[in-house]
Amino acid sequence: AKYTLVDKDTCISCGACGATAPDIFDYDDDGLSENRLDGNTGTAEIPENLWADLDDAESGCPTSSIKVQDSPFA
Ligand code: F3S
Repeated sequence: AKYTLVDKDTCISCGACGATAPDIFDYDDDGLSENRLDGNTGTAEIPENLWADLDDAESGCPTSSIKVQDSPFA
């Protein structure tokens, strides 16, 4: 399983993740990215058909703000 959230303390609103994985990432009112599937809590299991997009977004973030792990974030 895969779970993800954005560290908004380091996101610089570059926009790459939303372009790469629009089904996972969206932007809040400040333009910072967040996981749209679970309110950026990292508790919703990412559907397997989105794993490739998630990998691309994670590796493409210039500030390494996209966190991914195989269990839910606390
Ligand atoms: Fe922010 Fe990285 Fe996305 S800087 S907008 S989390 S690609």
